[in-house]
Amino acid sequence: MATRKIVQVGDELLRKKSKPVKDFDEDLWQLLDDMRESMYKNDGMGLAAPQVGVLRRAIVIDVNGMFAELINPVIVAQEGEDIEEEGCLSVGSFHGRVKRPYKITVKACDRYGYPFTLTGEKYLARCICHEVDHLDGVLFIDKTLDKDKYFGKK
Ligand code: NI
Repeated sequence: MATRKIVQVGDELLRKKSKPVKDFDEDLWQLLDDMRESMYKNDGMGLAAPQVGVLRRAIVIDVNGMFAELINPVIVAQEGEDIEEEGCLSVGSFHGRVKRPYKITVKACDRYGYPFTLTGEKYLARCICHEVDHLDGVLFIDKTLDKDKYFGKK
């Protein structure tokens, strides 16, 4: 395992749409292992492959001590609303409030290509939504209710 450099806001790579993972092979496992290590090293709750420069639909999360890898995740159901502050390892120290669904259901594959379904509430739902956004080139600063605070700081 090795830590990888986290791509920072301003880099166009973060704005690109990631492609589905097709090969559940050693390259993917290495990527996932490195993403996990990079997330923990930076005290993150989640990390998406484009944040380490790889435009593939893979994310890792760790919410409330539950680690998970989600490959080709698709949010298939959502309900409710929840507003909390978020940050991002690609966005420096800024934290801002974002409205997210309170509860989501996501379909994804594990590192071997086996499909599974996960339902999460509150921070788990928030974290998955945030990371799935990264796969579509969307950052939380696009959605934050505190945009003026972010752009005012610059
Ligand atoms: Ni992020």
